[in-house]
Amino acid sequence: MSTSAQADGITMSGGGVYSLATKGAKDVINNATPMVVHAIESIPVQSFSSVFTLADMGCADGGTSLDMMQTAITEIRQKASAIPVSIIYTDQPRNDFNALVKNIHGLGPFKSYLPQFTNLFPLFSGTSFYRKILPSNSLHLGFSATAMHWLSGKPGDISNHVHMIGARGEELQLYRARAREDWRQILLHRAEELVSGGKLVLVNFCIDENGRYLGNTGGVNMFNTFNEIWLEFVEQGRVTREEYAGMTLPQYYNTVEEFSMPLTDSADPVHQAGLRLDHLETQVVPCPFASDFKNHGNAEKFAQEYIPTIRTWNESTYFSALSPQRGLEERQAIMEDYYSAYKSRVLENPEGHGMDYVHAYLTISKI
Ligand SMILES: C[S@@+](CC[C@H](N)C(=O)[O-])C[C@H]1O[C@@H](n2cnc3c(N)ncnc32)[C@H](O)[C@@H]1O
Repeated sequence: MSTSAQADGITMSGGGVYSLATKGAKDVINNATPMVVHAIESIPVQSFSSVFTLADMGCADGGTSLDMMQTAITEIRQKASAIPVSIIYTDQPRNDFNALVKNIHGLGPFKSYLPQFTNLFPLFSGTSFYRKILPSNSLHLGFSATAMHWLSGKPGDISNHVHMIGARGEELQLYRARAREDWRQILLHRAEELVSGGKLVLVNFCIDENGRYLGNTGGVNMFNTFNEIWLEFVEQGRVTREEYAGMTLPQYYNTVEEFSMPLTDSADPVHQAGLRLDHLETQVVPCPFASDFKNHGNAEKFAQEYIPTIRTWNESTYFSALSPQRGLEERQAIMEDYYSAYKSRVLENPEGHGMDYVHAYLTISKI
């Protein structure tokens, strides 16, 4: 594990590109907003006389959660009109915090909610959610979307795939064990931070009850496509077998049972720390670009919108697996060729491509 409790080499696209390219992630947060409102309704806001603290963990550049935050603050203020509200934006230290600060303060491409409210305090933290981010008993509502599938480190490379969905046998067991411990650590830290009566709304990638997961909802399997193209590059001698091995993404998609277990098993340290599962449901949010394609039918437009969205989150892992001996330009050229190859596949046969989002939506309370 790196010293920052964060898998090496993972960053979302910087410079504000993340939120612009990931409309689907915003749809997911919009979907979770009623759960956030419901959680606030059930938190005894009036009794927190000094401050209400809300955190967005793994917020990237903050653009995708702006509307949700506005709704949440409005809801808090309806319950306690004068209460000061601290909003803690957190991400791992390599995140592009410049883009985040600009977006929250209305200097980016989005409209900020800040001017609408007084007594509101946005704060920024580069502490990983694998560590304690806030003092004990200080957090009232913790939110996180599409972030906690990133493991604290890579348990190992997967021989014949770039993602755990293709892992088998002992390799899968290693990922499973790391993910179990990581999920427990995330929850144990939050259990310390939350006040009694506080809530978490966590929206995490999952493998749902029907075996569906991100980019695998019946059409072309996105992760298998990633893998097939890299294997073609190995066969063509474009990348080495060692480089390919390093391209395994340090991610894990929990099942509903895996998410629930530490919260429902009374012997688990998480349950003993006072966290309880109030609600869990899975939802599929359609890939916005594939949905649009059904209407406009323009494969070029679809590919031009779809490829950047996958690039935002996997390019850094693949790029950092390429040998530095190649020199920067060669590595950049390989990445361009890689995404061009993906684009060609989409152009050849666009039907079935897309990145539908499959999430577990959890509300958790601290007793
Ligand atoms: C796909 S983005 C999601 C951003 C935003 N929450 C959304 O839903 O649009 C995943 C974010 O998780 C962050 N992340 C990954 N591991 C993390 C960790 N250990 N601690 C905090 N943030 C982390 C990444 O840096 C990235 O910004």
